[in-house]
Amino acid sequence: MWKLCRFLLFMVSFRVGQVSGADKYSRHDFPPGFVFGAGTSAYQVEGAAEEDGRTPSIFDTYAHSGITRGANGDVACDQYHKYKEDVQLMAEMGLEAYRFSISWSRLIPNGRGQVNPKGLQYYNNLINELISHGIEPHVTLHHSDHPQALEDEYGGWISRRVVRDFTAYADVCFREFGDRVRHWTTFNEANVFVQVGYDYGLMPPQRCSSPFGILDCQKGNSSTEPYLAAHNILLGHASAARLYQKKYRVNNPSNKIS
Ligand SMILES: *[C@@H]1O[C@H](CO)[C@@H](O)[C@H](O)[C@H]1NC(C)=O
Repeated sequence: MWKLCRFLLFMVSFRVGQVSGADKYSRHDFPPGFVFGAGTSAYQVEGAAEEDGRTPSIFDTYAHSGITRGANGDVACDQYHKYKEDVQLMAEMGLEAYRFSISWSRLIPNGRGQVNPKGLQYYNNLINELISHGIEPHVTLHHSDHPQALEDEYGGWISRRVVRDFTAYADVCFREFGDRVRHWTTFNEANVFVQVGYDYGLMPPQRCSSPFGILDCQKGNSSTEPYLAAHNILLGHASAARLYQKKYRVNNPSNKIS
């Protein structure tokens, strides 16, 4: 995972360099609403994979299956412990926004039900730290990492049952963080997640069937499951977005969910 960290830093420095380093461009060449920021996903940066009540997501299972030759997100960039330092660096770089994702299995370790107070505390701390540095949080709810518990119980996104659990998880996020978070994304690259996870079987949850899988297919059905997963993801998005519009956004019509 250190490679991912380096890649991320490269992306950030490349972007910032383009803006402030070169003589040709300045902030004023961009439209007023244009936001300069950086983005990550929970598994890429948090680390603390087994700390404070977090349980594995499908990405932990994948990264410990041997396929990544020992690389995993157990420590990653250690943002779970170093968020203050990270936010300080973001502020020094002049970032206006930080896009990150919430680890579902850190916030609700069983996938549904009991909220983990330590998980809640971490995301509250991160959000408050960003805001106190003038950095706008943009939060993604699902970045290829639903709880392994739900994958084991009913197959994650191939089951319609996930829609209700995802909506309940989204509800917790909106309720707990929505007073400070004004920009929400339900799913990161749903199409890519479905294609590589359920058709090619290259990424978690590594489901596919011959001859469509790129690697050896142990489980799955590339003819049907990508469509089931995509369908349930769309339903999950619709359900969470509708909940947000009805219950939370009414008071803050300028807030966004996408
Ligand atoms: C995938 O599911 C379809 C529909 O149920 C079935 O006809 C097909 O044989 C399955 N393929 C595999 C590889 O299991």
